[in-house]
Amino acid sequence: MAILPIVYYSHPVLHKKADPVTLFDSALKTLIQDMYETMYHANGVGLAAPQVAIAKRIAVIDISEQRNKPFCIINPEILVKEGNELMEAGCLSVPGTYDKVPRALKVTVRAQNESGEFFEITGEGLLSHCLQHEIDHLEGKLYIDYLSPLKRRLLIKKMQKHLRREK
Ligand code: NI
Repeated sequence: MAILPIVYYSHPVLHKKADPVTLFDSALKTLIQDMYETMYHANGVGLAAPQVAIAKRIAVIDISEQRNKPFCIINPEILVKEGNELMEAGCLSVPGTYDKVPRALKVTVRAQNESGEFFEITGEGLLSHCLQHEIDHLEGKLYIDYLSPLKRRLLIKKMQKHLRREK
């Protein structure tokens, strides 16, 4: 397993639509294991493949407190959205920033697992938020894209300061 480097705004891979996965081979399984490790290392609840510079429709999620219930969604599709609320968002690709974005309260997603089998998952609250956030990544959309241009500029400045401090 390996920790993969996370790319930040405005890396081009974060701003384009990712490609569907068609080959469910051992390289895919290795990538998913690496994405789990990278997510845990960065203390994230989710990570999408574009965030590690891979333009594929893959994301990993673990919202459990013990950090031991990871799962992946491949080629995900939102089937049902219910309700609406503003939810606090942050992103490993825009580190050091947070803001509220509009999200559905509850979603049902259809996706494939690492063996290519289809499954459905319904999430509310944090899981719903996380599913929508990661699926947005696969469409080339970041949470800051929901905000006004002014707010977005402020958050990007905040991120740049944060990254300078981290060095
Ligand atoms: Ni993110």
